[in-house]
Amino acid sequence: MNVLVIGGGGREHCLAWKIAASDLVDKVYAAPGNAGISKVAECVELDIGKSGFNLIVDFVEANGVGLVVVGPEAPLVGGIADHLENRGILTFGPKKDAAMLEGSKVFTRDLLSKYDIPTPEALVFERSQYAEAVTYVKNQNKFPLVIKADGLASGKGVLIVQNTSEAVKALDDCMVSQVFGDSGDRVIIEDFLTGYETSILCLSDGKKIIPMDLAQDYKRIFDADEGKNTGGMGSYSPVPMVSSSVYKKALDNIIYPTADALRKENIDYRGILYAGIMVSGDEPYLLEYNCRFGDPETQAVLPRLDDDLVPLLMGCAEGNIGVDLLSWSSDKCMCVVAASRGYPDTSSKGDIITGLDNFNGDDDIEVFHSGTRKQDGNIATDGGRVLGLSALAPGFKEVRRKAYNAMSKISFDGMQYRKDIAYKAEEDV
Ligand code: GLY
Repeated sequence: MNVLVIGGGGREHCLAWKIAASDLVDKVYAAPGNAGISKVAECVELDIGKSGFNLIVDFVEANGVGLVVVGPEAPLVGGIADHLENRGILTFGPKKDAAMLEGSKVFTRDLLSKYDIPTPEALVFERSQYAEAVTYVKNQNKFPLVIKADGLASGKGVLIVQNTSEAVKALDDCMVSQVFGDSGDRVIIEDFLTGYETSILCLSDGKKIIPMDLAQDYKRIFDADEGKNTGGMGSYSPVPMVSSSVYKKALDNIIYPTADALRKENIDYRGILYAGIMVSGDEPYLLEYNCRFGDPETQAVLPRLDDDLVPLLMGCAEGNIGVDLLSWSSDKCMCVVAASRGYPDTSSKGDIITGLDNFNGDDDIEVFHSGTRKQDGNIATDGGRVLGLSALAPGFKEVRRKAYNAMSKISFDGMQYRKDIAYKAEEDV
């Protein structure tokens, strides 16, 4: 069977790498892929936006593709799974109605509130209620607050504001300047919870939910969680700071009730249900749902998965995962992301990357490309997040040493990466 992976980031590189390792798979294609993905898949230039869905169908039919695996949220929210399934193509990733869990934060909030699922207190304001929203934040004496654009915003639509003027600016950006386009037509103003976050990526076939081992990602650009939010500067798995009782509460109070709620609402959720959980004083709260694998959590979770991923993806898509438990390596995994100069405000492109061949033959190190391209026989930067280096080792101390030692062998002009990925886990063990 041939498999087509939709997307071209680090998550998709990791997916393509794991899919290519399956005995069930003859050939992997990736659209559009990137320079790293081309080592495990044939990259094809296909438009993955709505206007390209018909061409994807043509490609699948012409190339014996038996499974399409959709990485990013935008095509899912745009209905790619509906489009392909309507043409008889097995597709991993939720249909449009289910992808609304990520496509509209207001939709998710309404669902959580209808089914009493723990999430921070919040109010929703329509664009027409801009003045009320401003009055509301001016009357707050409790900061920080969280202001969220309702729709997709490439990971930039969640703003943590420290005072009234930052809050008003965030509302202006969303509702007046419309920096997130239609996605800011509604905003959520949410209480800020303190605690720590963890990500639970769950396989869902519409009937059954199978949680994958926990991961934690690092959203800020600088060490010690300083600086601006990014798409994710690193991750690790498992997460020892989450006790088994907190984990059980997260499943029993959040994940399973959400799966029940979706069924009651006649939403057949097939794909990854990604829960971003805040643990505040030993109580888990749902911060957000995403309808796809996390990036860079995937790069820390999949290297630890001993099972063949392909039957699991097919099982989700077909509505019958067929197993109840996944098997995990006892090794720890961390992924450290290297970004280009200026990220997250800007990104520099075209800088030659050296040192990528240092790890050929080392099974415990994988370099997953995010923003790279081929350039005159070299590999060069092509975006903000450039690559994520994943390392495996029996303990966190060792995995940190291994990952950072490997990262020191890679270089490009303007390269920046955090030095504290998984440090918390090392302390915890
Ligand atoms: N790591 C955050 C995300 O994938 O949305």
